[in-house]
Amino acid sequence: MLPVLREIFSRLAPTYERVNHVLTLGLDVFWRRRAARAAARSGGSRWLDVCSGTGDMARELSRGAPSGTWIVALDFCRPMLDLSAARQPAEGGFEFVLADAARLPFPDAAFDLVTVAFATRNLSLSRAALIATFSEFHRALRPGGRFVNLETSQPRFRPVRFLFRVYVRTFVPPVGRRLSGAHAGYGYLSESISEFYPAEELAGILKAAGFSRVIFRRLMFGAAAVHIAVM
Ligand SMILES: C[S@@+](CC[C@H](N)C(=O)[O-])C[C@H]1O[C@@H](n2cnc3c(N)ncnc32)[C@H](O)[C@@H]1O
Repeated sequence: MLPVLREIFSRLAPTYERVNHVLTLGLDVFWRRRAARAAARSGGSRWLDVCSGTGDMARELSRGAPSGTWIVALDFCRPMLDLSAARQPAEGGFEFVLADAARLPFPDAAFDLVTVAFATRNLSLSRAALIATFSEFHRALRPGGRFVNLETSQPRFRPVRFLFRVYVRTFVPPVGRRLSGAHAGYGYLSESISEFYPAEELAGILKAAGFSRVIFRRLMFGAAAVHIAVM
């Protein structure tokens, strides 16, 4: 699955940000900003953005970061990281690492903060695999560090959930295909949105991975959620 996913994301990379903004009606920008604000409260000076893609979340983090903060942007897809590196502010403080999120090439307790934005459902839809990957994030955090996860979610109220799923299934694949020119990618992404965990269940998975305290906030009636997991 990893090589297939990497291939999908390599094809989506050049148009990824524009398509994302169109499909979320620009809301992804505000959601990342909210997650980044919550993340910045972690403090510390070593932050890791996993599945960083073209770097939208890493740049958002850098806006609220105390000076001297080192932000590592990690992704397994070279074209995504190359675009990210080309867009980072000239003043620096970034490092780009090509690696798999499930096997972070860092020692234990290397970071004060780990973030993931709009990628957890790509890591896996299996509970066991997610627990293993979240445990890996837990390992890379210092005691008291935080993992902040921003992801699409499942609206709680049935009529809203129904409308959300109709939107995701009927609008996302054809519009994504048309704007990106890629055939497979947005079909897969829309399916993974419908199949991903409700916010309470994701909180339970984070606890099973070893985080001692997990809080979450729903965004836009639960279409997305920010989870803050403390080590
Ligand atoms: C939907 S994009 C999200 C990008 C970015 N975080 C954002 O906020 O827009 C998902 C990213 O996760 C990366 N990715 C997926 N699975 C990965 C894995 N196992 N290890 C590292 N990166 C992965 C993809 O290459 C892609 O860049």
